[in-house]
Amino acid sequence: MIFEEVTEKDFDFIVETYNYYIKNSTCIYFTNLISTSDIKGIIPFADPIYKTYIVKNTNQNIGFCYFKRFQHRQAFDISVEIAIYLSNKHTGKGYGQKTLSLLEHIISKNNFKNIIATVNSTNTESKNLFERNYYKCVGKLNNIAEKFNQKLTLLFYQKEL
Ligand SMILES: CC(C)(COP(=O)(O)OP(=O)(O)OC[C@H]1O[C@@H](n2cnc3c(N)ncnc32)[C@H](O)[C@@H]1OP(=O)(O)O)[C@@H](O)C(=O)NCCC(=O)NCCS
Repeated sequence: MIFEEVTEKDFDFIVETYNYYIKNSTCIYFTNLISTSDIKGIIPFADPIYKTYIVKNTNQNIGFCYFKRFQHRQAFDISVEIAIYLSNKHTGKGYGQKTLSLLEHIISKNNFKNIIATVNSTNTESKNLFERNYYKCVGKLNNIAEKFNQKLTLLFYQKEL
């Protein structure tokens, strides 16, 4: 499994992956489908510091992941927020674990001190992945969002490096 830095050629794959979860899951809080013209506003692109990677296995796209600015105030520059989205054909096979390990390696090499992940409270696969990797659930916003006529609770996971 390897990471390749995202290019515009990957936008169709990213849109397809996001739209699958937008339609079928509460793991993502978009409710309207997105298009390629939205991508640059959602993931880091052509940024000197924050990066998006396509996760590949023998030339096949498995998913994508990124680390982005946590908050737009300079004092937060020691922290990043991450996300991993595997294409639905490739979940439950251990790729999430491999992706997180590689992403953490890049983040720590870049001297960041905190990794934050926001996870919907019913997203068991994601919670298991972060808890298994020593992320602590440090915050919870109860019923902060609504999708498919359901109130959603958002969890904040943190790992200090
Ligand atoms: C959340 C997500 C990134 C986790 O990745 P994943 O590959 O599914 O998860 P993991 O790497 O943790 O592996 C999951 C399971 O596969 C099992 N597995 C099957 N084959 C395996 C293999 N060859 N090697 C390792 N694990 C394997 C593991 O036992 C594990 O099960 P467990 O958690 O019950 O122990 C992925 O499911 C995903 O993209 N989900 C949709 C989008 C999403 O929710 N993103 C996160 C938003 S915060």
